Amino acid sequence: MLEERHPSEPFRIKSVEPIVLLSRAQREEILHRVKYNVFKIKAEEIYIDLLTDSGTGAMSKDQWSALMQGDESYAGARSFYRFEKIVKDITGKKYILPVHQGRVAENVFFSTVVNKGDYVPNNTHFDTTGANVAHKGGFAINLPCPEAALDDEIPFKGNMDTRKLESFIEEKTPEKIPVVFMTVTNNSTGGQAVAMANIKEASEICHKHGIMFFFDCARFAENAYFIKKDEPGFENKTIKEIAQEMFSYCDGALMSAKKDGLANMGGFIAVNDEELARKMTELMIVIEGFPTYGGMSGRDIETIAAGLNEVLKEDYLAYRVGQVEYLGKILEEAGAPIIKPTGGHAIFIDAGKYLPHIPSDQFPGHTLSVELYREGGIRTSEIGSIMFGGYDPNTGENISAPKELVRLAVPRRVYTGSHLEYVARVMDRITARKDSLRGYKITRQATLLRHFTIELEEMAKEEVKVK
Ligand code: F0G
Repeated sequence: MLEERHPSEPFRIKSVEPIVLLSRAQREEILHRVKYNVFKIKAEEIYIDLLTDSGTGAMSKDQWSALMQGDESYAGARSFYRFEKIVKDITGKKYILPVHQGRVAENVFFSTVVNKGDYVPNNTHFDTTGANVAHKGGFAINLPCPEAALDDEIPFKGNMDTRKLESFIEEKTPEKIPVVFMTVTNNSTGGQAVAMANIKEASEICHKHGIMFFFDCARFAENAYFIKKDEPGFENKTIKEIAQEMFSYCDGALMSAKKDGLANMGGFIAVNDEELARKMTELMIVIEGFPTYGGMSGRDIETIAAGLNEVLKEDYLAYRVGQVEYLGKILEEAGAPIIKPTGGHAIFIDAGKYLPHIPSDQFPGHTLSVELYREGGIRTSEIGSIMFGGYDPNTGENISAPKELVRLAVPRRVYTGSHLEYVARVMDRITARKDSLRGYKITRQATLLRHFTIELEEMAKEEVKVK
């Protein structure tokens, strides 16, 4: 009997999208053409695309048929009320504002509540969230729990450091902190889950000081599944009950439905405060759309309503989280050091550890990401010194990120166990020759979000020897 892979896919495939593995020579030529920036590779030139789990999922037959139910009325569309009902049911919030993706929810919300010089603590901001706080003149503060930095395989490494939150509020005063955020799951620390106990504690601290407590809930269902699996007292509750309890501790939430909405586009803001909802609605009408469509078509809204029902199903989540865990296990067997425990949506390989002969200013994460494409047509993203580092404009010197990671994000319901085994085989072949891999040097870069447009060159053999 073969060893159990992971809970098998709780679906069968009704519609397929061909993917092609180009020849090694073609892939080499493509890398040269895009100046070693994988963001610039055309999707049709990729075999397995693990760049992001955002908006890349496959829809179910129910979602495809919901599409035909889309009511495209400008105001008061039937689709909106269907969507509102399920969002209200899960979040328990009174006012639901649809938006076309997560960062618009961030823009509308932070424009309304953040004043110049304010602080917004978060377990860890996702980059657009932090950027939207900064865009309104605020300071985005990350307060991950100390365990997040450890190698130990312990659950709930996505938690917030509540002791630091308490002292931060006392230091800066509650007047300078309009809101505290909890990102569930915590994408930037590896898709790690947040425990119900931590949510409750952070909520109590905020409310004691009269500060609003909000979720960035893009992956709330995956988080609820981890609570059921790993937090005592929740084993007999349904995912929906757990999600409802999570939301009961917050005053509102911002959602990118491109993740746990199981949709390709969409999002929402959910709040209880009438005055806040009114102010945000006014802004929304100016920049996003009438409040019963918020930048989405009626059919988009229908697919999210259907997706939110499906994402709460336990067999789906067991398969989803199990598949990511399985990818982590077989990558480790192929020699890749990974961040553990594995999170809900992605595996993070520690390329700094994997390629110790490549210094951070030659971007080991980038080397591995390029190599995964060169060897197997796999696209991933570097989350290291290219994305989160920078350079001193005066000296031109490189500023390193704390870790050199490569993220393999798994789109929902798209790839089978066999695709993932292919990824591990490619990794295995890279491991066999990893000591010969070389770093990169930047030939062109922008000052902001440089990873999207950066151009690089592989270090020459002679240059490596000099180092
Ligand atoms: N919050 C979190 C936790 C996210 O992961 C993302 C997007 C957003 C907000 C923004 O949502 O893309 O709909 O505007 N994360 C994607 C990723 C892009 O690849 O992790 P959006």
